[in-house]
Amino acid sequence: MTMEEMDRIDERIHGAAKYLEERMQVKPQLGLVLGSGLGDFCENFTESVSIAFKDIPGFPVPSVEGHSGTVVIGKHYGVPVMAMRGRVHYYEGGSQAEITIPIRVMKLLGVKTVILTNACGGINLDYKPGDLMLIKDHINYSGMNPLMGKNLDEFGPRFPDMSDIYTRACRAKVKEIAQRLNIPLQEGVYAMYSGPSFETPAEIRMFRILGADAVGMSTVPEAIVARHAGMQVIGISCITNMAAGILDQPLSHAEVMETAAKVKDKFTGLVDEIIRESPSFTE
Ligand code: HPA
Repeated sequence: MTMEEMDRIDERIHGAAKYLEERMQVKPQLGLVLGSGLGDFCENFTESVSIAFKDIPGFPVPSVEGHSGTVVIGKHYGVPVMAMRGRVHYYEGGSQAEITIPIRVMKLLGVKTVILTNACGGINLDYKPGDLMLIKDHINYSGMNPLMGKNLDEFGPRFPDMSDIYTRACRAKVKEIAQRLNIPLQEGVYAMYSGPSFETPAEIRMFRILGADAVGMSTVPEAIVARHAGMQVIGISCITNMAAGILDQPLSHAEVMETAAKVKDKFTGLVDEIIRESPSFTE
């Protein structure tokens, strides 16, 4: 990432923020990124505007099935939310600075807390497909960091602290909400693998030894960029399948989408309540 490339990313962030600011009807306080199969969430937002990624100047545009690529800014339970239905993944070929442009746009628009969701493979043998996992911490095994290149000082410092990246105070609230709603919630470490191939069984054994409970192809760059910018981060994973080599069966995107569809009610119930109570997270 040269100085010029990073300046171009910075311009894209500001251009996209300006475009959305001129169209949104509410100023978002909460950011929501919806992962595979979890995208059709924002139907009952009020005062909302919905804009395709491809129509937002400077926004990265996704290509994978199950990620429709729309930004919805509106109120949900009275809370102003900027929701991303879909995201661009690192394996699509862009830089991590590019794919995290939407997170920095959220920051410029006023977002204080981001909820990052994803579908992922279970590594912890106590997990089963359909489980929800609150992300406690991550292992960045993508081989890259979204903050490489010139630091954008406007957002945060060159060497940001990551010791509380998935904000402890928010995790406590989310666990309390899950318990109240009677929604079982695992809590674990998410490892990011670049993809797009799924991992090999040997890689999954390695990740288990390294302390990972789940593995997926997103979220980590977004969490780093959000934390760099001083936002609170909540990560929620849907374990859509057991990771490679655990069961005697091949992995498929179809299985990922199928499990995501099955857990949608449970997932939506949890995220709804987190959004409803989120104003208290920043007090
Ligand atoms: N590995 C990586 N990413 C994933 C998986 C997996 O097993 N399942 C859903 N996303």
